[in-house]
Amino acid sequence: LEHMRKGLPLDGKKVLITAGPTHEAIDPVRYIGNHSTGLMGVELARKAAVLGAEVTLVLGPSALAIADAYIKVLKVTSADEMFDAVMGEYKEADIVIAAAAVADYKPKTAAQEKIKKKSEHLTLELVKNQDILQTLGKSKKNQFLLGFALETENELSNALSKLKKKNLDAIVLNSLKDEGAGFGGKTNKITFIDKNSSIKSFDVKTKADVAVDIWNEIIDRLHA
Ligand code: CTP
Ligand code: CA
Repeated sequence: LEHMRKGLPLDGKKVLITAGPTHEAIDPVRYIGNHSTGLMGVELARKAAVLGAEVTLVLGPSALAIADAYIKVLKVTSADEMFDAVMGEYKEADIVIAAAAVADYKPKTAAQEKIKKKSEHLTLELVKNQDILQTLGKSKKNQFLLGFALETENELSNALSKLKKKNLDAIVLNSLKDEGAGFGGKTNKITFIDKNSSIKSFDVKTKADVAVDIWNEIIDRLHA
């Protein structure tokens, strides 16, 4: 079947995608996490495979199952594990999409034993996680680097400053304000912004259809 992939838009391209939440351990039975399901990144991986790419999906804790001969899945739990998995694949990649909802902070130390209920108050000290995407931006060579921005206010200007700060080729703004958009759900409302500040807004769609729009925008820019 290999010959049938020749001539597809992403034939010969290596695509690296992060997806899902991360879980940051508090103790052996508890964590800090978020509501990401991983679906947007998984749909991007599926479409990339259909378009001819060889895909590596670095996937945080997610209930989704992927069975695709052209998608290699690296399962991770924490942001630190995601960082290591991504760094191991980055040099080889042609296109990188950071769709993961990485926890911004982790507990400074994870307790070895289950924390017992004692006083009325419990304070957890949190420290910042490494920014995976920003690290990729710093050592970018020929990769096309796409990030996501999840914003609730000053959406466009925040997304644009993330694009610049992280040295991205483009960023997908996820509008949480709109009905049917964002985390956990089956649909998204996105705006695609590239490094030349070209801005394109899309209607609310299923994440599978959003993935098609995103790949169309990326493919348009690959030879630019
Ligand atoms: N990201 C990452 N590593 C992190 C945090 C974020 O790779 N430790 C990536 C996300 O996958 C996304 C992009 O950076 O592609 C933007 O994530 P977002 O949470 O919107 O922005 P932050 O830079 O974390 O800033 P803030 O949450 O304060 O808005
Ligand atoms: Ca964040």
